[in-house]
Amino acid sequence: MSYLKTLKPLGAKPESYPGFSERLVASHYENNYAGAVRRLDAITARLAALDPATAPGFDWNALKREELVAYNSMLLHEIHFEALGPAMPPPPDLAAAIDRDFGSYEAWRARFAACGRALAGGSGWVVLVREMRSGRLAIQWCADHTMGFAGAVPLVALDMYEHAYHLDYGANATAYVDAWLGAIDWTAAAARWRGAPPPQVPYATSIAELGDFGGVFVDARRGPTYAAAETVLPGALRVDPAAPDGFAAGLPKDREIVVYCVYGFSFSRDTAAALRAQGFRARHLDVGIVGWRASGGSLDAKGRGSV
Ligand SMILES: [Fe+2]
Repeated sequence: MSYLKTLKPLGAKPESYPGFSERLVASHYENNYAGAVRRLDAITARLAALDPATAPGFDWNALKREELVAYNSMLLHEIHFEALGPAMPPPPDLAAAIDRDFGSYEAWRARFAACGRALAGGSGWVVLVREMRSGRLAIQWCADHTMGFAGAVPLVALDMYEHAYHLDYGANATAYVDAWLGAIDWTAAAARWRGAPPPQVPYATSIAELGDFGGVFVDARRGPTYAAAETVLPGALRVDPAAPDGFAAGLPKDREIVVYCVYGFSFSRDTAAALRAQGFRARHLDVGIVGWRASGGSLDAKGRGSV
């Protein structure tokens, strides 16, 4: 299987993260997160090719260790990005658990931040988990993307590798830790703490779900963004999201339509909804053109089609 075809989208538009530039977030997502997933796909293929009867133990040891590192890097980056957004406090049930296990939210924040600052100049993760043995919350320190408590559920994860902050904060890890802690949206963490399935975005499609897509891609990036772009998804038609009256002309009603924007948020979602209201079979690409490119998807030069 390809993990790369199941890249997770960001939790919110990068411009909505207080204290973080879009340049930093996009670089972190495309180079470090997607890079870990590319490594995981390559390692998975190598492992599948090992002959259990003849492959030496050092091959198993090396590849299984690298699989663990790459898999946890994928998972922790997804949790890291998922929590970043317009800040939302923990809901009352999770807030009560934080009070129970740390004394108060502020006490938890102070201890979590201290663990982050302790990794300044080094690398690793600080993770809030629900540990399996007692069900209580705990703060973990994870080097090399690993070393977590067995069976613990990660709730929020702070990336302390320098690539996560150097573009915006230089070596000032303390300012980065404070900015990150001030930008946590606790919604998804609370769902994991309760053991609930991840929330589904209606009419979203992942790259894996597209399969051998026989429909039509529609580019609905914001006007200035589209004007500056050089590439589009294969065969994409252009619809300006600011001109909904022109949506219907030229689009086929007998084929599936997948609308995309940069990251998979409002421009593609709203455009797909407007198309559905006009009778089209339209969904939106959950990871946008950024995720498509990061997954290795092919691109066309812009200018071949428009509506
Ligand atoms: Fe990272």
